[in-house]
Amino acid sequence: MKKTIAVLPGDGVGPEVIAEAVKVLKKVAQKYKHQFDFKKDLIGAAAIDKAGDPFPPKTHKLCLESDAILFGAIGDPRFDNNPKAKVRPEQGLLSMRKALGLYANVRPITTFKTTMTKSPLRPEITQGVDFVVIRELIGGIYFGEPRGRTEDGNKAFDTCVYSKEEIRRVAKFAFQLATKRKGKVTLVDKANVLATSRLWRETVQEMILDYPKVTLEFMFVDNAAMQIIKRPIEFDVILTENMFGDILSDEASVITGSMGMLPSASIGEKTSLYEPIHGSFPKAAGKNIANPIAAILSAVMLLEYSFGLIKEGKAVREAVEAALTRGWGTKDIVLENPMSTSEMGDKIKDNI
Ligand code: IPM
Ligand code: MN
Repeated sequence: MKKTIAVLPGDGVGPEVIAEAVKVLKKVAQKYKHQFDFKKDLIGAAAIDKAGDPFPPKTHKLCLESDAILFGAIGDPRFDNNPKAKVRPEQGLLSMRKALGLYANVRPITTFKTTMTKSPLRPEITQGVDFVVIRELIGGIYFGEPRGRTEDGNKAFDTCVYSKEEIRRVAKFAFQLATKRKGKVTLVDKANVLATSRLWRETVQEMILDYPKVTLEFMFVDNAAMQIIKRPIEFDVILTENMFGDILSDEASVITGSMGMLPSASIGEKTSLYEPIHGSFPKAAGKNIANPIAAILSAVMLLEYSFGLIKEGKAVREAVEAALTRGWGTKDIVLENPMSTSEMGDKIKDNI
């Protein structure tokens, strides 16, 4: 198989962890006789510095011409609480999502035996947890118009809007995923208060008729925030709108014990994007200490979702498991003799 992968390392630890994911993909290509062409470009603060734009047109073009996108992280403390900053790196992320039509954000939450004790939750709660948050990513209050301030500057407003079409597109993805998993979709909303939530309920209820094997349940977002911590084992696929998904997926990530292990995919109309969920982690940048596993597992999702390379994905997953079972890890997950980012990447690569 011959494919082009856009590589956008971005800010903070992004470049370091993405280098390890690329290393692993190169090994996969060599071993299974595929040809992956990696094409690197700018995004985030790095792109503001060099091109004055957090998502330059050249990067956009590269993404459109590629078969998949591997993305590191966006964010730089130089831009936080800085009223002089005209443009923030995060705007690059939001423009990219919109420009590429990345409508479904997929965040799997699974536990690893070796890091379970790192979770603030008791092992009897986290054991065996395996669910996926599907967050709608380019609609709702993040993008709705009108937004802004009144002329006197004393009032501000944001608008939450959803169309049936936007809901159907992401719900279809969730239902299809559930049929390949445990067959349960939980729609998380605030239908007791919000008109948009009521449209979500109505729309998914119409759709469920086409998925006889899937059970659909509804949960208010406040209750869901509680249930994710109390009985996470009950969930299979959580489907929700943009902002609720943003909040709940961060909450869900603590179940695992380390943010450094969790991958994500953002499914697009054409090209999809894969990124570790941990963000730029500026304090660790340049120190070769960040955990590369989230980035490597994001590369696995890329192989599986964009290229359908299931066998290859499995081989990488097993290499990660094998490394963890041996007690290897970066310092966020092991206390004794932690490995560096690049050593860990090498070990995983060699295990494939
Ligand atoms: C995320 C992030 C972004 C979001 C920010 C950086 C704009 O928190 O990917 O979850 O809110 O979507
Ligand atoms: Mn977030």
